[in-house]
Amino acid sequence: MSINPVDAVFDYHQATKHRVEAFASGPGFLDWATQPDPFRRYAGARLIRLDTVAPTDEPRYDAVFTPGHLPDGLPVNLQTISQLFYDSLALSAWKSTGAARWALRVNASSGNLHPTEGYLVCGPVEGLCERPMVCHYTAQEHGLEVRAEFDIELWNTLSSGFPENTFFIGLTSIYWREAWKYGQRAYRYCMHDAGHALGAFSLAAAGLGWHARLLDEPGADELARLLGTSQPHTSEPEAPDLLMACMPAQPAAALPELPAAALHAFESLAWQGQPNQLSPSHVDWGIEAFAAHVHKPHGARTYEPFTEPPRSWSPPARPVALRQMIRQRRSAVAMDGQTRLSRGDFYRMLDRTLAVPGAVPFNMLPWKSQLHLALMVHRVDGIPPGLYLLVRDPAQTAVLEQALTQADPWHKPPGCPEQLPLYCLMQRDTRAAAREISCQQDIASDGCFSLAMLAEFSEPLERYGAWFYPRLYWEAGMIGQLLYLEAEAAGIRSTGIGCFLDDPMHEVLGLTDRRFQDIYHFTVGGAVDDPRLNTLAPYE
Ligand SMILES: Cc1cc2nc3c(=O)[nH]c(=O)nc-3n(C[C@H](O)[C@H](O)[C@H](O)COP(=O)(O)O)c2cc1C
Repeated sequence: MSINPVDAVFDYHQATKHRVEAFASGPGFLDWATQPDPFRRYAGARLIRLDTVAPTDEPRYDAVFTPGHLPDGLPVNLQTISQLFYDSLALSAWKSTGAARWALRVNASSGNLHPTEGYLVCGPVEGLCERPMVCHYTAQEHGLEVRAEFDIELWNTLSSGFPENTFFIGLTSIYWREAWKYGQRAYRYCMHDAGHALGAFSLAAAGLGWHARLLDEPGADELARLLGTSQPHTSEPEAPDLLMACMPAQPAAALPELPAAALHAFESLAWQGQPNQLSPSHVDWGIEAFAAHVHKPHGARTYEPFTEPPRSWSPPARPVALRQMIRQRRSAVAMDGQTRLSRGDFYRMLDRTLAVPGAVPFNMLPWKSQLHLALMVHRVDGIPPGLYLLVRDPAQTAVLEQALTQADPWHKPPGCPEQLPLYCLMQRDTRAAAREISCQQDIASDGCFSLAMLAEFSEPLERYGAWFYPRLYWEAGMIGQLLYLEAEAAGIRSTGIGCFLDDPMHEVLGLTDRRFQDIYHFTVGGAVDDPRLNTLAPYE
């Protein structure tokens, strides 16, 4: 008997919770003999090398977040496309210790396993290509592997109604990369990572004055045809995640739909290149089978709009360069247990995570915020340690107040800007709880604050469909990528935390059903660097 896809999501989510008594099913050890190659390559596809572009002082980091303050859109050409990828999916450094050497990238990734692959679908671009093409981005080379070229007529049909010089970016996931280390829970991490990449693209595009928007109507099968990942091969599959439009000019509020017939035409192009095999053998953790339940069918959705859109407190701008923040972003592997954050910087970071209409990066998403932040504050000047809640959709305040049954009467913390929907739920030392719930990781207790991202869960899944499940994680990843940069801009560091005990966090908050579920953790604080590690340039 076939299972209802929403029930399949509830079952998967329940089965992949880490518990006090046992972690979700996983390998339990690292099988180095099957460690996946960190780079997917398409052997036989023509490689176009992109330019490496040194960070510039302009635009300023804070400027890109204020609607109407984006720089004018730069022309789409080899240099600006190079910059877009350099500031989103490229390598940011090599690290080494002894004989070991590994690459870091601009976008964060659980376990540094990087399941997310990027694709460019474009028309003719000055200096890059004379014919429309579909390319796979290789971070290893900072280049584009040309998988297929196609006729201008097909391009004109595909891009019809979009602003001039629009192009498309697609993302896919190789589930095996994460499953190799994390087993059954890996699907969650792949979707977090897709969200981090989505956030990275939004910010990189904003730096060029471009507007990036998620295109939500193509179905998963159509995306696979468009990106060429439906072509048969025997290497690890790439599952289609999402497509964005990147537009040099401000788009109309409603974007055109991509014609289904044009998407189908990509199936029969002359695809070039064969994907490399990443591991000699694999363990099936049931992720492909689960993902089939959350494949989106074709069709544009009408999402519930905000009834009370969040408002920004508009904190003053700092002399910090966007690209410097993007390229220097790193995860803290240890926190010092001492660094304190100023109240102003704390409020500013939280303000940035609000989906203020028109503001980067959440203007990427066609749905309103579905996630709220439960914060465990440890070391913020002028704010008593305790448990706090940032309500990212103010219309949910009463529902959350009712759902969080462990909270004391809510009150706004001292000096909190009136527009910031932040509430103190209880004043107490939450360091031990934060560490225990984050799989005993000290980074959760030794920073300035850590947080749990609470997703509105059962209601949107039942309303929109099982395919909304990955979208909750994309939003979580976007918040994560943004907080990474916010921490850098405040002169400290941060780290995503995918390893956490789901239900113990729900118990701390007094959540008793699946209306809200904790889907990602994050920590922000003063980092302790590992002196054994050497840092090398990303590209020779
Ligand atoms: C979804 C996600 C989950 C993560 N979970 C953890 C975690 O539980 N513990 C940890 O120390 N780091 C965690 N990280 C940080 C990654 O290990 C880190 O991003 C990766 O090693 C790459 O390093 P970089 O962020 O400095 O580029 C996570 C990152 C992401 C994106």
